[in-house]
This record gives sequence, C-alpha cells and structure tokens, in this order.
Amino acid sequence: MTGRPTYYVTTPIYYVNDKPHIGHAYTTLACDVLARFKRLDGFDVMFLTGTDEHGQKIERSAERAGVDPQTFCDQVSLKFKELTEAMNFSNDQFIRTTEERHKKSVQHLWKVLQEKGFIYEDRYSGWYSVRDEAFYAESELIEGQGGEKLAPTGAPVEWVEEPSYFFKLSAFEDKLLELYDNNPDFVMPKSRLNEVRSFVKGGLEDLSVSRTTFNWGVKVPDAPGHIMYVWIDALANYLTAVGYPDTAAADYQKFWPANVHIVGKDILRFHAVYWPAFLMAADLPLPKRVFAHGWWTNEGQKISKSLGNVIDPFELIEEYGLDATRFFLLREVPFGNDGDFSRRAFVLRCNADLSNGLGNLSQRTLSMIHKNCDEALPVPGDFSSEDKELLGNIEKTLDVVRGHIDNQAFHLALDAIWTQASAADSYISVQEPWKLKKTDPERMNTVLYVLAEAIRQLAILAQPIMPQSTDKLLSQIGVSERGFDQIGQAGRLKPGIAIPKPEGVFPRFELPEESTD
Ligand code: MSP
Repeated sequence: MTGRPTYYVTTPIYYVNDKPHIGHAYTTLACDVLARFKRLDGFDVMFLTGTDEHGQKIERSAERAGVDPQTFCDQVSLKFKELTEAMNFSNDQFIRTTEERHKKSVQHLWKVLQEKGFIYEDRYSGWYSVRDEAFYAESELIEGQGGEKLAPTGAPVEWVEEPSYFFKLSAFEDKLLELYDNNPDFVMPKSRLNEVRSFVKGGLEDLSVSRTTFNWGVKVPDAPGHIMYVWIDALANYLTAVGYPDTAAADYQKFWPANVHIVGKDILRFHAVYWPAFLMAADLPLPKRVFAHGWWTNEGQKISKSLGNVIDPFELIEEYGLDATRFFLLREVPFGNDGDFSRRAFVLRCNADLSNGLGNLSQRTLSMIHKNCDEALPVPGDFSSEDKELLGNIEKTLDVVRGHIDNQAFHLALDAIWTQASAADSYISVQEPWKLKKTDPERMNTVLYVLAEAIRQLAILAQPIMPQSTDKLLSQIGVSERGFDQIGQAGRLKPGIAIPKPEGVFPRFELPEESTD
C-alpha cells in the first residue's frame, strides 16, 4: 500500500458502430483532465476508458460492413485507441467488452444477481430501439413525421417478443430514492438529479436483461440461447477493470468504488438508475458520483451523420493543434451544459486566452530576461507588497482550482487560472520593467523574477488541460519538478538558471470568413 489517496475515474465505453467524433473526445478529455489533476495533486489514479462491443447495433453494423463482428470490433476499437493517442489521453487502461476477463466478470455478476433472487425468467414483449440499445414503454414513444413510432430520442423502434430474463428493478425504487436523498452529489449537475429522481418516482418496471433473437454478446450462464442485454454487459466494465470478480485484487481494493463516472446526458438513466440498482442487488459498494455532461451542436445544428456535420477530432487537432482544442472544449462551455461548436468562437477564445493571454505574458517576460539579464534568471531583491500580492494570489489559486475540479467545473477552474494570468499582465503594465533597466536595474530583476515565478506556477496549474504546451513552457524555464506540491515557496525558481531565447508556445489563428447564409 502506498498510503496515497486514490481516485478512480471512468469514461463511458464507446460503441464501435462508428468512428470516434467530437462527443467521444469531449467525454474522455474531461476524464483525462481529472486524472492528470489528481496525479499532480498526489493521488494514486486509475483512469479507465474503452469500447463497448456487443449487442444488436454492433452486430448489424458489422453485417452492413460485410465482416464478422469480432473483426469489425477490432478495426473500430483501434480507431478509438488512436483517438486516445491523438488527444494525448493518459488513460491507465483501455478495456474492451470482448475481452475474456470481462466476459468472466459480467457472468459472475449475473450469477450473483441470480443467487440473490433478483433475476427471473419470463417473456418480453414491447418496444426496443437498436440505435439506443434501450427498451421503451409505449407511453414514452413519440410520433415521427410519417406517423411512425419513434423513441423519445428520435431513434426508430421495433416490436420485440421473446423469452427473456428480467432484473427486479421495481424492488429498488425506494432504495434509489433514499440514495439520491442521502447523497445529493450522487448525480451532478443538480438539475439532472431532479430528472433522475422524478423518473424513479414515476415507478420502475422490471428490466429485461437478456435477448434471444441474436447472438453477438456475452452468454447468460446456464441458459442456452440467451445473450445478456448489452447494458448490463457494458456497465460491468467498470468493475472488470479493477479485477472483479476478485474483490481481493489490489486494484479492486484500492479503486472500487469509483469516484466518478463521467457520462453524456443521454446515458444518465443507465448509470444513475440501473447501475446502482445492479450494484445494490449484488451487495457491492456504489460509485460516489455520476456526472452527466451536455451535448455539442455544430454551428447551431445537431451533430449527425445524415446532416454530414460530424466534427472529426483528428481534423480539429490537425488544424488548430492539440492543446488549443483541449482548451477550447473545456473552457468555452460550462461542463454539464449543452454547447455550440463554431470556428469563430474557437479562434476568438484561443487567440484571447492563449496567444494574447498566457502566451504573450510568457513570451514578453522570457524575452526581457533573455535580453536584459544575460540569458539567465536574475537574482531578485526584496519583494514589494505588489510582488507578494501577485504571487500570494497565484498560490491561493490551487485551492480554488481544486474545489472546482472536484465539482467537475472545468470552466471555472480555468477561469480562476486565467484571472491570475490577467493579474500578471496588469502587474507588468504597472511595473513597466522595460523602463527599469536604466532607472533601477535591481528592481527590474525583482519584477522579472516575480513574473517568471508567476509563469512557473500558472503553467504547473494548467498542465492537466494543456500538457504539451505547458511542458514546453516549463522546460524553457528549466522546471522539472511539476507536482502541485511545488506551488508556492516549495518550488521557487533558482536565480542563475539559463533562460534561452523563448519560442512561442501558442499560435495565433485567423478568423474564419463570415458565412453568408
Ligand atoms: N456504449 C454506450 C456507453 C456504455 S457505458 C457503460 C454509449 N456509447 S456511445 O459511443 O454512443 O456514446 C458515448 C458518449 O459520447 C456518451 O457519453 C455521449 O453522451 C457522448 N456523445 C455522443 N455525441 C455527443 C455530442 N454531440 N456531444 C457530446 N457528447 C456526445 O452510449
């Protein structure tokens, strides 16, 4: 045992029916920032992502592609792995539900649920949406333009009648409501908790958890012909990754229950209702939080393949660079809200905060040191009250950022860091170090030292969101110790270290032409 506090964060596992798009990149990015933040803050972290490979949706996609399902899954899963590399995600594991360890894990969970009397055999007849991989009650359906029945999400539904095993979800109504009442942070944001609560209050029906009309999935133990419902299979991945069913496994002991499952708002019901019910039924500890983020639209339109407006994260990185992409996605829109992606907003935001903001601050400071202080960090004199105020406020920002990160409020965390970058900008304007060279070179040295210190700490704080550019920045000022324990006095820069001619870290982007339609 290391004795360090632990942190387990998960992404949803992604369906391999299609290649990754911006929505997938967004969910995993949020988890990556949490994981990186916690590691820098001294935690022992497990960050899990992966792919959801079973079910009718995947089976049909493979059929359409003319390949067997396993080959199909192998191909598409690889694209998601490539995304984790392209986005510089620091996941500790990449799980696939077609792995043997996972099949064993979910079959074990099934047996436990059965032994405890929460699974029974019956017949399902009702509506199913393959696109959503969800069962819907007649009352939930909406009417399509041609009068056809549709899922509330707009997805097509089909009538299903087949023998099926059921999970006694109805037995968990009161326990779930108690869970939400006693743990108001179990579902975040708050508005989502209210949504979940009213869904449960509306009454829960038992859930069909096996299918018999196709083959691509985990077999139900001792029940020939039954394939597990893909959601029970998928949700169990969070347990598999830490060693379940071996609850004595080191990772299980360290990391279960998970600190937070980050999900999109569309899959909240599965995570905040079904999942805790399965876990309660199996007598397993519950995750501490499920956070549901919003959806991106593209220039005001819903993102969809049929509209041809899917945002490809690989293209975005190619065009604007990785860190600007990472920054924009989490800075622009409060996490939890829906957001609109537009190139104009992207360029305005990155130019203002990155190239004019932190970029300009560091470029100016480091150039002045390089030019005026013999290419080395000068020895400071005594700190004035302004010096102490600037550095003191930056030091205090760690706690503020920590608080926001613990609430998954990324935009506020970034806002707090950038408020300090602006404070450093104002400090330069007031101190005018360029004028001090002649009048008071000692004071110039102090001001430039204070600014270099400000940049060091701001860059350390910004690492989780922009690992590559902050790495460049910190290397330019010779900083190798980069944990949050280095914020403040502990990591103070040593006068005399070489400051080479600085290289710009954040490029400026051209505004896209105004569209005329
Ligand atoms: N396989 C299930 C999850 C199982 S977890 C045990 C699944 N996969 S998914 O590939 O369809 O979606 C994964 C995530 O991508 C969801 O959290 C979803 O909200 C997110 N997004 C898909 N499109 C999105 C946007 N346009 N915007 C933001 N996120 C969106 O559901």
